[in-house]
Formats: sequence, C-alpha cells, structure tokens
Amino acid sequence: MDVKRIINEMTLEEKAGMCSGKDSWRLKSVERLGVPEVMVSDGPHGLRKQMEKGDHLGMNDSIRAVCFPTACATACSFDRELLHRLGEAIGEECQAENVSVILGPAVNIKRSPLCGRNFEYFSEDPYLASEMAKSHICGVQSKHVGTSIKHFAANNQEYRRMSCSSEMDERTLREIYLAAFESAIKEAKPWTVMCSYNRINGEYASESHRLLTEILREEWGFDGYVMSDWGAVADRVTGLKAGLDLEMPASGGLTDAEIVEAVRNGSLEESVLDQAVERILKKIAAYAENRQKAEFAFERHHELAREIETESAVLLRNEDGILPLKEDAKAVFIGLFAKEPRYQGGGSSHINSYRTGSALEAKPGVRYAQGYTLEDQPNEALLAEAVQAAKESEVAVIFAGLPDAFESEGYDRSHMRMPENQNELIRRVAEVQPNTVVVLHNGSPIEIPWENDVKAILEMYLGGQAVGEAAVALLYGKANPSGKLAETFPMRLEDNPSYLNFPGDGKTVTYAEGLFVGYRYYDAKKMAVRYPFGHGLSYTTFTYRDLKLSRKTIQDTDTLTVTLQVKNTGKMAGKEIVQLYVADHTKTAVRPEKELRNFVKVALEPGEEKTIEMTLTKRAFAWYDPERKDWYASSGEYEILVGSSSAKILLRECVEITASRAPSLRIDSNTPIGDLLKDPALAPIIAEYQKKIAEAFGQSDSEASKEAISEEMTYQMIVNLPLRSLRSFLQLQPGELEALVKRLQEARKEA
Ligand code: BGC
Repeated sequence: MDVKRIINEMTLEEKAGMCSGKDSWRLKSVERLGVPEVMVSDGPHGLRKQMEKGDHLGMNDSIRAVCFPTACATACSFDRELLHRLGEAIGEECQAENVSVILGPAVNIKRSPLCGRNFEYFSEDPYLASEMAKSHICGVQSKHVGTSIKHFAANNQEYRRMSCSSEMDERTLREIYLAAFESAIKEAKPWTVMCSYNRINGEYASESHRLLTEILREEWGFDGYVMSDWGAVADRVTGLKAGLDLEMPASGGLTDAEIVEAVRNGSLEESVLDQAVERILKKIAAYAENRQKAEFAFERHHELAREIETESAVLLRNEDGILPLKEDAKAVFIGLFAKEPRYQGGGSSHINSYRTGSALEAKPGVRYAQGYTLEDQPNEALLAEAVQAAKESEVAVIFAGLPDAFESEGYDRSHMRMPENQNELIRRVAEVQPNTVVVLHNGSPIEIPWENDVKAILEMYLGGQAVGEAAVALLYGKANPSGKLAETFPMRLEDNPSYLNFPGDGKTVTYAEGLFVGYRYYDAKKMAVRYPFGHGLSYTTFTYRDLKLSRKTIQDTDTLTVTLQVKNTGKMAGKEIVQLYVADHTKTAVRPEKELRNFVKVALEPGEEKTIEMTLTKRAFAWYDPERKDWYASSGEYEILVGSSSAKILLRECVEITASRAPSLRIDSNTPIGDLLKDPALAPIIAEYQKKIAEAFGQSDSEASKEAISEEMTYQMIVNLPLRSLRSFLQLQPGELEALVKRLQEARKEA
C-alpha cells in the first residue's frame, strides 16, 4: 500500500472515518483506494474473536479458542522465552482467524490486591511486568500480527475506572506506573498502544498530549497508532490533537463528523488528521501485506497452555516434603475446582475454551468429594462427605480458590478473603487429615488463615484451560514447580500500602504510598508478609556462590556484568529463578530499599552447576529526577543483591558509580546551604559563609561554648539553613545575597 498516495486521494470524510471503528471490532475499509477492512480482537491470553453483534464485555459468545494461563500466572514463570512462545502461538491463531491486532498485553501495576482485573496484569514490579510484556509482544508480532499494550496509563482499579483521576507525583508515575510500559514499548515496539479510561492528575489519558505524544512518541520513539480503550474518548478533537489516533469502538459517525467540522472551521489542522490516518494505515499495510497461512492448532496450543502453566505455578509451602505425592498414595481430591477448575477471569478477556483439562480427568480413578458449592453457603452434607473421605485416605488434596463472582473486570474486590465455606472445609479436613494439601485457583492474593493447618499450598492462579493437567503433573512430581510470586501476599489486606487510599472517593484516588508499592513498601517497613515477592519452592535445592562484578567502579554510561554460580544440590532436575536487586546507598534521593533489575531462569540437572550472567546499565541504578526531567544515577555506592526471593538475598557485592553529570541543583535564595556544600564547585564559595555563621552562632574554642553547642549541632543547623537566612544571621549588605546567588550559579555553570 502506498500510504502517502492513499491519504492524498482520501476525502476529508474518509480520513475522519478512518479514525474510529466500523463496529465493535473492525476498522473501516476504503475499497476504492485498496484499504482493506481489518479486525482487532481481545486478548490477551487467548483469542476472543467475536463475530456478528459483538460486544466487548464478554456477554456475547466468541469463537472457540484456546485459553492460555492469565498474566497473573505467566508472570510467575519469570520466563522470557516462554512468554515469547505464548505470543507466537497467539499470533498464529490471529493469522488463522484473520485478526490484525490482538488487544494486550496488559501491564498495569498491581497497586492493590483488590483490583478486579489483577488477574490480567503481570506484577507489582514494573521491571518484571515490562520484561514479560516485551516477550509477549515480540512473540505475537513475529507472526506479523500487532499487539496493543494496555491500559496506558495508571489504570489500577476498576472502581469508576472511566472517570476517576489517579493522582500521583512525577517520580511515582515514571518509576512505577510508566516504567511498566516503557521498556516494552521502546524495545518490543508494539504496533499499537491502548490508552486507558481514567484521568491522570486530572487529565483524561485519552486527551493527554504529554502522555500520548511527548512521552510516548517523542521520548520513547513509539511509531504505531494509539487506540482508545472501548469508550474512553471524552472529547474526540482534543484527543486527536493529543495523539489519540483511533477511537474504538464505532462512534456512529458522530465523532467523525466532529473531526470534519473541526478541520472545516479551522480549529483542527488537517495535517494532524493526516498523521493519525498515516499511522493507522501503516499498520493495516503491515498486516495486509504479510498475511501468513496458518491453522488454529487447538491440540498443540492446549499442550502449550499446559506447559506454560506447569512452568508458572508457585509452590508456596511444602512442609515435611509432603509433595510430590507418590503415584500410589491413597489420595482424595476434594473441591469443585478439581472437577470444574476456575482458570480464567471475567470480562473482555474471557475465552470460549474449546476444552478444559481438569485435575480429576488428569488423575483417573482418584476418589473425589465436592466439598463446597460456589454459593458461599456452608453445606453440611458436602462437608461431612469430604471429611469422611479425607479420614479414609492417606492424603487430602483440596482444590480451592475464588469463584468467578469474586473478581472480574468491571469491579474491585472489597476484601481479600476466600469464601468462608471453603475456609471452613479446609479447617475441617485438616483436623482429621494431617496430610492436607491445598491447590489454589485465584487471580489475586488471598488471606490464608489456615496456612499452618495444611502441609502444602500450590498456587495455580488462573491457569488456563489445561490447569488441572498442570496441577496433577506438579502434585505427583512429573514436573518440578519453578514459578515464583510476581506479587507479595500480605498477611492481611490492611497491611497493603494502598490500603488507606484505595479506591479513593470516586473522583480521585491518591497514590499516597508513592514509590512504595508491593515489596518496596513491605521491605521499607520491615513488615512480615505471608509470602514475599519472588518466593516459590521447588522439589530440589539450589546453592548460589561466587558473585562477581565485572568492575568495582563504573561510570554511569558503562554496562556492569554480574556473574555467579548456581548449583542444583538436590535429587531432581529443576529450574531456579535467580533474582537481581539493586540497592542505592548514595542517600541522594528517596529510594526503596532495593528494586528488581534483572533475573534469569535456569534449568539444572541434579548436581549440575551453571554460570549465570546478567547485565545492568545506568537505568538499573537511576531514579527519575523531575527537576532535570531525566533519569539520574547519583555518584556513590550501590549494592548488587542476588537472591532466590526478595526476602532471601544470598549474595551481595558493592559497586561504585561515577555520574557523568552533577546532580541537578536549583540555586536561588531558598537553596539549603547543605546542598551547596555537597557540590565541589560551590563548596569553597559557601565555606567562607559557613565559618562566619558558626561564629555568629557563638561557636568558639572555649570549653563552655563547646558544651553548650557542639560542632555537630552547629553543622546540622547550618546545612539546613536556606541561603536567604545569611541575611538575618550575618547582616548582609543590600544586594549581597543576590550577588552571592549569581556567583554560585555561575560557578556551577562553569564546572
Ligand atoms: C477493556 C479492554 C478491552 C476492551 C475491548 C475494555 O473494556 O478495558 O481491556 O480490550 O474493552 O474489549
């Protein structure tokens, strides 16, 4: 397609029409100019292609497809290659079904465990979320099908999601909420970005020039098209000017007419419209010109769904090595989810699975008791049957978790508890059966009051249509658990950093915890949690040794290489997720205790040892400096922490960084003297004054003076004084302060 020529030949109406959907899922064609009609579909963990009369809330059926594990599960794999394969499979399905863009992945940060959509999101950590998204995007797009990374941005709750304003400071926005998008967009180059419903600091994401143009395109180099979330457009022309190219779904021609009118009356430059059309057409061409013959490989992809889930499930607890179970152990499977697993969430990502692999089917002949219903009412008959079966067995495996109604797109949870009838079942079974194992199916953390009553807990999350097969493989040791938590399980909801500010008052929600989301908060508060970020057990054991840094001192422009040895010291082949965190000891900015900056998942045979290598660049050390509007890694000492979870740091080494630029410093009459003293170019100038103030404060060499006010006290008082206070304490002449400020500013410029 000759996009430029087509745009030249399009009428104004055709161009405006190109900027909104034809219906729920299709873009408009312009047949006379050879622009084909293309389709987009949800995602992200399977193809939700709706035919006629499509709606986007999951009410109308979609074609039969394969439901892969949801993002809350796949993030726990920490496996870039696996996510790439997931993406490839989805890309092939899109080619088979003629879908040009699959909507996702969704990378919003899990700020609160209550967000109804957490099951679709990867993590509380932006680095992990972005890494997973990157692989997913590259996988899909390797099949010449586009992705739409979503929901851009700061859309972390469902409550009033279409109007509520997420209020936060610039560092929090950059370091946590935008960071989840940033490297995925820069490195994986998604064809499209979906802007979110909400407002950010008062402005709709769909109307934010800063977000959709300055940050996304000018800073990050995004060159695809931005589409709105379904119904996220408030003012169409403002949105178009801000960088929102495609409105979805159809607007019934209303907003197309607004665009036409705006061009006619001169309030919108036609070139802005042309640019949006160009971005959309380029991606239509990328799809249409690279069609591939593909088949929807149902069975192969079912197998892949099982494999991905097996690699993603997290063994949270395993007392006395009760797992893996012996094949011939006299076991009973208890709980409706053994028969009818909950394996996906509700809403726009809901897949019409062509088949389900339950645990009961995967373990034919095993005894079964239903135990509970999804109504959350105690059912004495079911309870009694389950308790009896547990008594008569050697081991009871309870399949429990959250029913559909507990978590979905569209609303948030109001608590973090499991249904009481399931808690009761687990307590009653554990009372009679010391060998009780719980297998969890949930999209988000839960409170686990019965933790110490059971021997093992296997977290399957919402594990896709083959979840039962994966669970049985893991329970019986056909596979070794290797997932680690992509989010913290707090003891109770009240411990969560957003607790006092979630979900806000409906108009605004204040992100008062700032950077301290998830483990960043629990770490800083030294707070006990149920299971820390990065936690996950295995049937084998690993040792870490010999951490080496390529250099002890680096420039902020250098790359640091970190190596270590990891060995499988147990008897079973297994995979370990080695996590690298960085701690900033320079004390130049408010920083979390440590932040995840790299990871590797390594497969090891029993007795095998491998060298792990990870690299770090400036960004791994940097914070976002709002004053400079850029990332900054301060000079000084940082620690490289390597561990098997955020709470289990096994090796550490320090590195010294030299910043290539001085830290930002605004010099005016309010600048604290302490900040000036830190700068080598300014310290000599300000030192004269420092001495004079010390004298003015009465510091002398006499013993009496030293006793009354120590040198340290004087020093502390002085460093906290703003420059202007020299006026009062040193009786400066008129104009002297201004001259000093100027001198300092010039000295800084020269340095
Ligand atoms: C959701 C998106 C989804 C879209 C289309 C919206 O309600 O927020 O994630 O892609 O609908 O179904």
